[in-house]
Amino acid sequence: MQQQPSPYSVHVFVCVNDRHGERKSCAEGGAADWIARLKERVQQNPLLKGRVRVSACGCLGLCAQGPNLLLHPQGLWFSGVGADDLGRVLAAIEARAGVPPTSDEVPSRGAI
Ligand code: FES
Repeated sequence: MQQQPSPYSVHVFVCVNDRHGERKSCAEGGAADWIARLKERVQQNPLLKGRVRVSACGCLGLCAQGPNLLLHPQGLWFSGVGADDLGRVLAAIEARAGVPPTSDEVPSRGAI
């Protein structure tokens, strides 16, 4: 086994858990779309590429508040994210990764 620091400045975990309507879950809130959109934005920005990783993950435990995503190691948690929140989440990611903002969005309170 090898132990090492994370190679990423920001690792974004997006819950994609799907309970198929049995209970509320992040998948029904468009989590798959969030992954695609965030990955696309990271790939488009050479300053983020390689420093920020976007990964799908299982249940983060706050299902009723979903869709949920988490920035690691910052411990920033976003709940109830909607399509209109992409700019704000991206701004928080950029601030944490130490790269200039690409939009006029202001990072969520407490995100920087
Ligand atoms: S289903 Fe996403 S936090 Fe539980």
